[in-house]
Amino acid sequence: MSRNLILKGNICHTPEKDRLEIREDAYVVCGEGLCRGIFDTIPDKYLGMEIVDCAGKLIIPGLVDLHTHAPQFAYRGTGMDEELMGWLERYAFPEESRYADTGYAARAYGIVTEKLKRGATTRVVMFATIHPEATLILMDCMEKSGVVSYIGKVNMDRNASPELTEENAARSAEDTRRFIRECASRGYRRTKPIITPRFVPCCTDELMEALGRIRKEYDLPVQSHLSENPEEIEFVRELAPEAAFYGDAYDRFGLFGKDGRTVMAHCVYSPAEEVQRMLDNGVWIAHCPGSNMNIASGIAPVRHYLERGLRIGLGTDVAGGDSESMFRAVTDAIRASKMYWRYIDHNAKPLTFPEAFWLASKGGGSFFGKVGSFEEGYAFDAVVLDDSIEPSARELPLRDRLERAFYQRLDKQGIIMKFADAEQIL
Ligand code: GUN
Ligand code: FE
Repeated sequence: MSRNLILKGNICHTPEKDRLEIREDAYVVCGEGLCRGIFDTIPDKYLGMEIVDCAGKLIIPGLVDLHTHAPQFAYRGTGMDEELMGWLERYAFPEESRYADTGYAARAYGIVTEKLKRGATTRVVMFATIHPEATLILMDCMEKSGVVSYIGKVNMDRNASPELTEENAARSAEDTRRFIRECASRGYRRTKPIITPRFVPCCTDELMEALGRIRKEYDLPVQSHLSENPEEIEFVRELAPEAAFYGDAYDRFGLFGKDGRTVMAHCVYSPAEEVQRMLDNGVWIAHCPGSNMNIASGIAPVRHYLERGLRIGLGTDVAGGDSESMFRAVTDAIRASKMYWRYIDHNAKPLTFPEAFWLASKGGGSFFGKVGSFEEGYAFDAVVLDDSIEPSARELPLRDRLERAFYQRLDKQGIIMKFADAEQIL
């Protein structure tokens, strides 16, 4: 249950995209379900509230994974020898086909949600599979975990293996409606559906049109993939010759952010018109550097997106990404930006640690509303980290302790407490 409480410790967050604020031995207040700010001494009006003493620990906002695939967890860290299209055919589609079996889904999704619960992620936007029953099992598990999520029953009616291709657009749309209605009847508090056309190669115009209608009717957000890999982009050009660019093939059907939140994963090769359309329509970009390196997609121009003022956050994109860790996503984003700067564009300054931390918190958090910061009025999502599990011969400044915790992946064992939307979930 949501409770009023005060966390005491070393509080670190990024209220602006290049400003890391660190408050040593301070208090962050959660009152009536929202963050009430950071204080050096407890204001009179909060005296008497329960104090949770995390002295010496690092307290950061819960991190936001803007893009991942729950049904691909079982093979993460394997199958990195293909590029996107071959990889989908050889690894992703066969694994996702297994989710026709609800027994398998229950087992696999139990593992996924346990993993997410123990990590630093407090919010996640996820793909499931085409299977409504299995997707509802995932939603039940996520609801129980306490991690806040948007979960999509995937739509695909062409260019996949026969087992993973829905019969036709009408059937796919009908399953989606049924799924959305069932979500509503289960009364989830922290688990919501999201419209999920897999990507243009897997969706006929007829299906896109139906999904555009469903999106509008139920006022739901949208997630998909965009401009990830050269072969994929070429294929989209053939499949949708009337579209001015890849993103336009979504926009034509009302699936590109114009009147509802939309997040597009990757955007490695977005041409100028596509970037402009994302800006105009307020589309969020889920930057997935780990996945982009693993399946050799490329490096997205994140510096450029930040300078243009696009909405952007980070995604782990399991199983293109080998890890669900948002700590890894942060350091992958920094490393990838350095290679981009070194090899591609010397004007694109590498990401700093505060910038990457911002992407993982407030950047992606904005997809959920006021999320990802300890400013007053934000949702109360917090992670308490005990970084002493990795000893140091000398006392490190807090700034270094925080950065080290990310590079050394201390989210694996160092998380001792976690709150999502004002509820303690760990
Ligand atoms: N594009 C379409 N489907 C997928 C997927 O499962 N993973 C990635 N990385 N890209 C995709
Ligand atoms: Fe993906």
